[in-house]
Formats: sequence, C-alpha cells, structure tokens
Amino acid sequence: MIKNILITGGAGYIGSHVTEILLKKYKKVFLLDNLSTGHRKLINKKAKFFKLDIHRKDKVRKIIKKNKIDSIIHLAANLIIGEGQRKPKKYYKNNVLGTKNLLEACKDTSVKNFIFSSTAAIYKEGQYKVSEKSIIKPKSIYGKTKIKAENLIRNFSKKNKINYGILRYFNIAGSSPSGKIGLINKNSDHLFKNYSIEILKKKPKLKIYGTNYKTKDGSCIRDFIHVSDIAEIHYLVLEKINKLNISKILNCGYNKGISVLQVAKEFKRQSSKKVNIIETKRRRNDLIKIIASNKNLKKFINWKPKFNNLGKMVKSCIVWEKKIK
Ligand SMILES: NC(=O)c1ccc[n+]([C@@H]2O[C@H](COP(=O)([O-])OP(=O)(O)OC[C@H]3O[C@@H](n4cnc5c(N)ncnc54)[C@H](O)[C@@H]3O)[C@@H](O)[C@H]2O)c1
Repeated sequence: MIKNILITGGAGYIGSHVTEILLKKYKKVFLLDNLSTGHRKLINKKAKFFKLDIHRKDKVRKIIKKNKIDSIIHLAANLIIGEGQRKPKKYYKNNVLGTKNLLEACKDTSVKNFIFSSTAAIYKEGQYKVSEKSIIKPKSIYGKTKIKAENLIRNFSKKNKINYGILRYFNIAGSSPSGKIGLINKNSDHLFKNYSIEILKKKPKLKIYGTNYKTKDGSCIRDFIHVSDIAEIHYLVLEKINKLNISKILNCGYNKGISVLQVAKEFKRQSSKKVNIIETKRRRNDLIKIIASNKNLKKFINWKPKFNNLGKMVKSCIVWEKKIK
C-alpha cells in the first residue's frame, strides 16, 4: 500500500495540482522544492514542505529515510525551451544531474515507485501523431535533458528493482476547479499564461508565432491537456505500477490537435474587449505539429478525461489570472 509520497517541484504549477489530488487519496504527502520557479502561495498547507534543492543528495536521502518514503513523483526541472538553448549547462545540471542525484538518494531506501515528468519535446519533428514507440530525436536542449533523465531512471530502476512511470506530457493548460492554484510564473513562456495576462489588459494583443506552416490554419498544432487531468493521471499510474509491480512509459494527451490560432480565437470569444490577434514570424525550435497517441495510457489506467474542453481550459485560466492580478 502506498503511504508516504514525496513530490519534487511540489511548489510548481503541475506539482501543486498533483498535490491537491494526492491529498484527497493519501494522508502523507511531502513536498521538496527550491522555489527557483515555484511559489510559496502554491504550497498546500496539508502537505509537509521542505525548501531544498534536489542536488543536496545527503539531505534528500535523510528526508526519504526519516519519512519512509515509498513513492517519488519527480517534477523538479527547468523547462523553458528558449532559456535551455541559451543556457544548456544550467539545463543539463538541473534536469540530468539533478535527476541522477535524486536517484542516488533513493538507493537502498524504502522507495518502491518513481514517477517522472517527461515531455513531448523528446520526439522527432514531423511525426504528427506520436506513440511511445515513435522516433526520439529532441530538437531542443530541454528535450535532450529529459530523454537523458528518462534513461537514467530506466537503468536505475532495473538495477534497484523500483517501478517507474515515465509520463510524457503534451502541452499542459488550465487551472484547478478549486480556484486555489494555477500558473503563477510569468516567465514560463506558456501560451495560455501569456494570453491570460494579455486578455486582462485594456487593449489585448494575442501574438501567433508563424501562420504559414503546413497546418489546417497555418499556425502550430498542439495537444493541450488540462492540468487537473494530468494531475489525476499521476495518482492512477502510481496506484497501478505499485499494484502490478511494473514500469510504464506513457504519452499523456487527449489525442486531439488544437491550433494556436484556435486558442487565440477562444480567448477572444471569451472577452468583451476589442482583441487583436497579431501574426508574427516563426520562432526557432518550435515543433510544427504534435499530438499524443494515448492508447496505452487509456488502456493502462482505464482513463477517461474530465476536462477535455478548450472553452473550459481557457475560462479556468482567465478566472485564475483575475484572481492573482
Ligand atoms: N508545463 C508544461 O506544459 C510541461 C510540459 C511537459 C513537461 N513538463 C514537466 O513538468 C514538470 C513540472 O513543470 P511545471 O510546469 O510545474 O513547472 P514549474 O516551474 O512550475 O515547476 C517546477 C518546480 O520545480 C522546482 N525546482 C526546479 N529545480 C529544482 C531543484 N533543483 N531542486 C528543487 N526544486 C526545483 C521549481 O522551484 C518549481 O517549483 C517539469 O519537470 C517539466 O519539465 C511540463
């Protein structure tokens, strides 16, 4: 039975949503975060919080041992594609060496399950709908660090008999229906965040980077998945790998492509102001279109998404942005 869970990056956007759901299922949830991009406001009061960097291996190990941690959900990372291109060393250190340290801290402890947040950014460009067996060839430094971390986890788990669940998230959007948590970090380079900030201004301008791609409306296509659905996946996958004593790599998305222009139009539709949708030039390192084949996820956890709706995702972001403005 799962009893004591440690979430790294628990004061972040996704970490706070995972915490909210896990606290409904388990009594003891521990959070570890260095608050580099996380926020105190997002720390759930019912969880025990440690302000600590995952690089502090000995301290992390002490926490794991003292609290008899049986399951780790590892979300702590740097994740801004553009920043990763400019600062490859920072990304390698945090995402690869950080993961290595955390794994070493788990060695010969009570840790039995390890869930990791990977990303669609590891897949080769141009495959459109990707399964877990699609070609891996990350375009960005960020994607490269995530696949390296995946490999470290797989090797470590094999040697140390730990079950892993590698979750390859597609694009996360939305805020919890509780209204208590959401994305705070303004530098996250997150489409829904940028549009939410903009839509509350007097004269909103929603930028589209690239409108001449070979897609249905010329803009990039993504598989946006609501953060509360992603959070629930963590719970369901954790229970299942623990029960069956197995490991899995799973794409996490809705198997549905939504264009950036569609998102902009939905923000515009939900606003009473005069919103300008502005076409600008392409950005380097943007994948053109990518959606998740989620067959394996659905089969493994018998998954039924609860928030698969663009209008609701946009609304929850605007409501949250108004609250923290
Ligand atoms: N947001 C997305 O769309 C998305 C998509 C795919 C994958 N992911 C992955 O999900 C995870 C969480 O992302 P998020 O959107 O919640 O980002 P976030 O920045 O809100 O959360 C990351 C958290 O990790 C903490 N952290 C970073 N480095 C740390 C370290 N060395 N030690 C301790 N804490 C550290 C930060 O303070 C922050 O609270 C990341 O691993 C990211 O790569 C996110």
